[in-house]
Amino acid sequence: MKKSPNKKMWSGRFTQETHRRVETFTASLPFDRRLYAQDIVGSIAWTRALFQAKVLTKEEADQITEGLKTVKKTIEDGRASFSEQDEDIHMAVERLLTEKIGELGGKLHTGRSRNDQVALDLRLYLRDEMKHIIEAIKDLQAVFVAKAKSHIDVILPGYTHLQKAQPIRYAHYLLAYYEMLDRDRQRFLDGFQRVNVMPLGSGALAGTNYPIDREALAEALGFPSVTQNSLDAVSDRDGAIEFLAAASTLMMHLSRFCEELVLWSTDEFGFLELPDAFCTGSSLMPQKKNPDVPELIRAKTGRVYGHLMALLTVMKGLPLAYNRDLQEDKEAVFDSVDTVKASLSILTEMIQGMTVRRKAAARAAENGFLLATEVADYLVEKGLPFRQAHEVVGRIVRYCLDQQRDLTQVSLKELQKFSSLFQKDIIGYLNLEASLERKQQTGATAKNRVLERIRQIEEK
Ligand code: ARG
Repeated sequence: MKKSPNKKMWSGRFTQETHRRVETFTASLPFDRRLYAQDIVGSIAWTRALFQAKVLTKEEADQITEGLKTVKKTIEDGRASFSEQDEDIHMAVERLLTEKIGELGGKLHTGRSRNDQVALDLRLYLRDEMKHIIEAIKDLQAVFVAKAKSHIDVILPGYTHLQKAQPIRYAHYLLAYYEMLDRDRQRFLDGFQRVNVMPLGSGALAGTNYPIDREALAEALGFPSVTQNSLDAVSDRDGAIEFLAAASTLMMHLSRFCEELVLWSTDEFGFLELPDAFCTGSSLMPQKKNPDVPELIRAKTGRVYGHLMALLTVMKGLPLAYNRDLQEDKEAVFDSVDTVKASLSILTEMIQGMTVRRKAAARAAENGFLLATEVADYLVEKGLPFRQAHEVVGRIVRYCLDQQRDLTQVSLKELQKFSSLFQKDIIGYLNLEASLERKQQTGATAKNRVLERIRQIEEK
């Protein structure tokens, strides 16, 4: 029997047609059509599994497979007619298949449920996108490393509490983000292992009545293992949640960096200059050059956090196994994928064109007592307990503030009024470069340490 276009694939037990509003309200097709390729790959593998289980003959399996390939092409060419009445991409593909090959198309769904089908599609999709995101993170990391390498001698003020603290290398600063991104990359890789498990063959919830070789199915789809519990397999969205958590952490890192781009490209800081092509002007104020790209990345971070929170909330009260609530996972994941990919790629391009104002940065590092700790450590070397040295230098800073002078402008004679331990060699401590070079531990800002880290990264 050929169903009328209004007739549902599940219409058998119903006495009324679906209300139009219900159709619109429940349809996922407008967004899950993004999964068409994964859905068809899964269906081709399922067709083969049905043949191997002797549910389909060789001819039937071949015909269905060919039909699915044609459907894929039709969708890709934009020739597929989608209708809201299809409900979702799974039914749409099956309808298109049946229109192509006739009643035989109705055999494809044997032993399968949309519940295990959508679980598979989502895993296939996450697998693909996680790979893309991991590559995009690597691209951004490479820009940080290249910038660090070519700016090894640029000095910046380092901050705590956004108060000038100690001088650091610009390269060291950039590599801090390399490290954050490296943990992000690892989080996606780690999540990938758990997404990379094959759920098909779980049926609606209990398994399937046909002798499906799930391990062979997994192999055909490139999964190293299969899920071990059908109830869990159809209702588990941990992979999506872990993905959103990793995406949230990544966006948090990008957002911190973007906050600094916004701040440091102001006239007040003036350490960085963003490329004109990545900034926008004001419709009113002619002088403006606004950092809209980093601002928007900072803001879009919130929307990825929101998706994580939304999906966690969807899951928290769900009884086993599948519930329609689970359909809400997709927009959260899709929008996060789009947001993360767009943010990574525009940031990668933007910071390639970003320039550092080395003079302004060095000047900012010279004023503001960033070397006070060096002076305290000088006194420690001369034998003063650190706590007393801290106190002495604190008083010198106070003295400088009262006189509106900087630490480097105080004479040896004046210093000696605060402590007799001060000698001529103090001059060697009142110097940015010297301060950097005394930070010689693994992970510190001395030049050879930063270069060493760059080498390690390049060898990886
Ligand atoms: N569109 C549904 C989803 O995204 C597919 C699964 C529907 N299953 C069902 N039993 N209604 O979750």
